[in-house]
Amino acid sequence: MEFLKVNNLCRSFGGLKAVNDVSFTLKENTIKAIIGPNGAGKTTLFNLISGFTPLNQGEVFFNDNPIHGLQPYQIAANGISRTFQNLKLFPGMTVLENVMIGRHTHSKSEFLSGMLNLPWTWAEEKKIKKDSLEIMDYLGIADHAGTDATSLAYGQQRIVELARAMACEPKLLLLDEPAAGLNMRETADMAKLITRIRDRGITVLLVEHDMSLVMNISDEILVLCYGEKIADDAPLAVQQNDEVIRVYLGEDDA
Ligand SMILES: Nc1ncnc2c1ncn2[C@@H]1O[C@H](COP(=O)(O)OP(=O)(O)OP(=O)(O)O)[C@@H](O)[C@H]1O
Ligand SMILES: [Mg+2]
Repeated sequence: MEFLKVNNLCRSFGGLKAVNDVSFTLKENTIKAIIGPNGAGKTTLFNLISGFTPLNQGEVFFNDNPIHGLQPYQIAANGISRTFQNLKLFPGMTVLENVMIGRHTHSKSEFLSGMLNLPWTWAEEKKIKKDSLEIMDYLGIADHAGTDATSLAYGQQRIVELARAMACEPKLLLLDEPAAGLNMRETADMAKLITRIRDRGITVLLVEHDMSLVMNISDEILVLCYGEKIADDAPLAVQQNDEVIRVYLGEDDA
């Protein structure tokens, strides 16, 4: 059985091939990074897997079940959760509330009955709260449970988003640039957190520009360039790959 299998994914915007015939597999309980220059198609690839962008061609299998063509909430219900390149926390809500919203996708009760405070949701709500606090504790942000989420330092806000994605109890977590905007110390902390998440039995696929983080924690690295896969290998092999070196030396910030 294959944990995640992506076959020949294609997505164009007008004449631009943002993702062009990309295939790869992901083993359970590993960390795989997707790297590549700006505009390489990394976020688009995430959007295709998680159903946020419809694909033009290709297939995605999760535990051998086809998930291409499903709606984002259906894919989430299958056990795939994600974060976004741009933070999407709700202002005016506490850290705990922001995390609990993630957990609600797992809740059997309708959102409306939750809002109306109907009695049969109380027990469920209590459990969601308990589980959310447990995840926040695991990620080291439980002390901030009652704080307005958007008043936290940026690095902490990224961890709240991580906690929210984990609150859905995913089997696969897609992280789009979890270290973007973080300083060196926060980036090192984020690397440790991602490793802890993997140690919890959650498989991680992440897009990231920070090479030290990627090289340190990834089991495999997939390199995209202009929508095409140019490498997919262990970190050391990718580092020594001629085409990868050419792509990165061609960039000013290589
Ligand atoms: N909704 C869209 N409509 C039109 N073009 C898009 C859309 N989304 C992405 N693109 C284009 O597709 C290409 C790939 O974009 P994508 O955001 O996937 O790149 P990326 O690798 O995530 O880049 P970055 O590192 O800057 O986040 C870019 O040329 C982008 O302008
Ligand atoms: Mg992106």
